[in-house]
Amino acid sequence: MKEKLNVVIVGGGSTWCPGILKSLTKHQDILPLKRVVMYDTDADRQAVIGEFGKILFREEAPDVAFDYTTDKSRVYEDVDFVLCQIRTGGYDMRSTDEKIPLSMGLIGQETVGAGGMAYGIRSMTDMIEIVNDVRAQSPEAWIINYTNPAALVAYGLARVFPDEHHILNICDQPVNLLRSYGRLLGCDSREFEPVYFGLNHFGWFTHIYDKAGRDLVPVIRDHVREHGFKPADAEQRDQSWLDTYAMVADMLHDFPDYLPNTYLQYYLYPKYKLAHLDPAYTRSDEVINSREKRVFAECRRVAQVGSAKGSSVVQNDAHGDMIVEVSSAIYRNTRQTFIVMVKNDGIIEGFPNDAMVEVAASVGVNGPQPYAVGKIEPFYYGLMTTQYSYERLAMEAYLEHSYEKALQALTLNRLVNDAKDAREVLDKLIEANKDYWPELK
Ligand code: G6P
Ligand code: MN
Repeated sequence: MKEKLNVVIVGGGSTWCPGILKSLTKHQDILPLKRVVMYDTDADRQAVIGEFGKILFREEAPDVAFDYTTDKSRVYEDVDFVLCQIRTGGYDMRSTDEKIPLSMGLIGQETVGAGGMAYGIRSMTDMIEIVNDVRAQSPEAWIINYTNPAALVAYGLARVFPDEHHILNICDQPVNLLRSYGRLLGCDSREFEPVYFGLNHFGWFTHIYDKAGRDLVPVIRDHVREHGFKPADAEQRDQSWLDTYAMVADMLHDFPDYLPNTYLQYYLYPKYKLAHLDPAYTRSDEVINSREKRVFAECRRVAQVGSAKGSSVVQNDAHGDMIVEVSSAIYRNTRQTFIVMVKNDGIIEGFPNDAMVEVAASVGVNGPQPYAVGKIEPFYYGLMTTQYSYERLAMEAYLEHSYEKALQALTLNRLVNDAKDAREVLDKLIEANKDYWPELK
């Protein structure tokens, strides 16, 4: 075991980076570092975060070498962990993912519906390049990937790199939810033992055990139905996130068995969501006017005063902490439980083996060792089967450059459903993504 690790963050210009950097500096006890380098293709965005990072590391972890670069030629040399969060096309393209479907009366969202498919196909070319680049220089490095839409990216990568055992796909929304349940019950969610199944942004907590072995799911369900639900994470306090958390009470009213992932709101209540989404002002606009402005302004302020002490951008670490903790679990072989994406391979009985399911797993030096889920009820099985088929066809459309499969994928997607709508939205997305997508034939 190496005494100190080398880490590369891909997507150094992301607004999530200050939190990740803070978590990295803070958790030297569980993830000791020698070198941290951020890499991004967008020099301007990354420089702002990078200058902030230099000050943060100088103050909090002066022994760690920190730098940032747009030159990938040697960035992955002798690397142990690659933390990957890219956004191909940036917020401009997120905006088209949201607005093109919405203009047709279909849900437009970053990871969901037709917009999610557009983003998934965009992400793949860059993701494949990143994995190949990492492997050329560091064959054993762990790639911790949370690039969205994680469901499609995880499935696509598993198809392109079938022999890869050092890519871990993980999303922070299950952790965000666990923290929010902890807040609601007034206890520390790190002590919870969750049981979860589904696909990414499409899953359910079936049990959450506390230290005494009591299942908290019924307690949380009753509490949410009576008092509503609010996010614990400061990053999820914009109006659209508050609305999203509020929808959990609706879902628990109709489907009280399990605690749903918030993204299920779109699939279960598309008409209601459509009526409340504004095609002229979507989540990308909200992010540009909130998180983007706040993070970049704060990083610039830190650079100007020369100190990151007490800085607001590093107050909340849910996302960063999760990434550091899961990396540490691999490094130190702690076998802690995380909710991650893994190949089904029999975890959910009767479900396709190649599906990338999201489930609880013990994480250690061998990567994620998932816990069996077994049989699931027809309602969940039905929802998941359609969603899996959509995910698979969307990625096959990308890999085979197949227009027909893209059309099938969108027709299957619950948020499109009608084949004529599917063709119309597909043609519009092809046009909008022509700089990013392969030509579909
Ligand atoms: C959650 C999801 C992520 C998503 C993030 C930010 O944490 O799991 O996949 O990227 O929210 O979404 P936002 O709309 O705030 O950019
Ligand atoms: Mn996610």
